[in-house]
Amino acid sequence: MTIPYRPFGRTGVQVSALALGAMNFGARGNPDHEDGVRVIHRALDAGINIVDTADVYSQGESEVIVGKALADRRDDVFLATKFHGRMGDDVNRFGNSRRWIHRAVEDSLRRLGTDHIDLYQVHRPEEDTDFDETLGALTDLVRQGKVRYLGTSTFPPSRIVEGQWIAERRGRERVVAEQPPYSILARGVEAEVLPVAQRYGLAVIPWSPLAGGWLTGRYRAGGPQPESSRAARQPGRFEIGGAENAAKLEAVEALAVLAEQSGLTLIELALGFVLAHPAVTAPIIGPRTLEQLESQLGAADRPLPADVLDEIDKIVPPGTTLSSQDAGYAPPSLREPTIRRRPLG
Ligand SMILES: NC(=O)c1ccc[n+]([C@@H]2O[C@H](COP(=O)([O-])OP(=O)(O)OC[C@H]3O[C@@H](n4cnc5c(N)ncnc54)[C@H](OP(=O)(O)O)[C@@H]3O)[C@@H](O)[C@H]2O)c1
Repeated sequence: MTIPYRPFGRTGVQVSALALGAMNFGARGNPDHEDGVRVIHRALDAGINIVDTADVYSQGESEVIVGKALADRRDDVFLATKFHGRMGDDVNRFGNSRRWIHRAVEDSLRRLGTDHIDLYQVHRPEEDTDFDETLGALTDLVRQGKVRYLGTSTFPPSRIVEGQWIAERRGRERVVAEQPPYSILARGVEAEVLPVAQRYGLAVIPWSPLAGGWLTGRYRAGGPQPESSRAARQPGRFEIGGAENAAKLEAVEALAVLAEQSGLTLIELALGFVLAHPAVTAPIIGPRTLEQLESQLGAADRPLPADVLDEIDKIVPPGTTLSSQDAGYAPPSLREPTIRRRPLG
């Protein structure tokens, strides 16, 4: 198994075609720190060189575990984290303001045990904070050497474009990457986000490529409700019998048959699909255990043939998100199934 490397947008940095997400390390997933470190080391040994976390993942615990794992390996890893989510009761301990960003970055650097973050991402846009305020604060962090590159996550296309224009017109650092939700079951970003990212040369590192677990084979029609800490946190998104999930379940059944006919696991089919989009740099996988990591690593060197991609398009049409709970955000235009996911020809 070999994980190929891809350019990270137009930065000149090369990253592995799979990124390791650390959301599951800590109280909300796997509370065993040593086990988390083992999973991270195995991913790095397999060739993964980009790790994604966030301050809010288990309220800083994920960053602490990543920091432990990278203690002797920091220089070989492209380290990404995020700010925006609430980090305490105080009215200002969250958001995209200059005031919070300067505090949040110090907290993340301390927890990660490093003096710089390679990619510092705005976890979500915020309507009542001027984006120029946010980009101005982030530009200062780049100039101070605390941050190398800027990214966004789950930004609608208009906000992505706005960020590029602010950078150009006001001399701010440019956002170089977007982290959107994207999987076979959540294809809304094919409509505008992915084409916009391509137009501006942004790296794209999608989250939840297995739709949070729906594309692992554990969710099957007539089967039991799978055990998952996620179901407790977001019951609507993971309840197998929920009305909003009926279309997902139907698609999963068809995809399982397609995977078997294609000699792939459902996980390989799902990750291969995200990897195949020309705008995508590296899907962020989110294993909770070593076994889950092993089940995903092989996907990086099993590209899906065109006929398999065509069959997927018949099961979930391009541009379609089957449940708004998987969309992260759901402006109506993103759910219109009008845009092909691959260029013609
Ligand atoms: N920017 C954002 O807003 C945002 C949002 C979400 C995630 N992310 C990033 O994206 C990363 C990946 O997201 P994700 O965790 O939602 O990804 P995902 O790959 O869609 O889902 C991962 C889940 O799939 C299940 N799974 C994986 N392998 C399995 C296997 N072999 N057998 C059975 N179940 C398996 C596990 O569920 P169980 O834990 O239930 O076993 C695991 O937690 C995160 O770590 C984070 O870095 C970012």
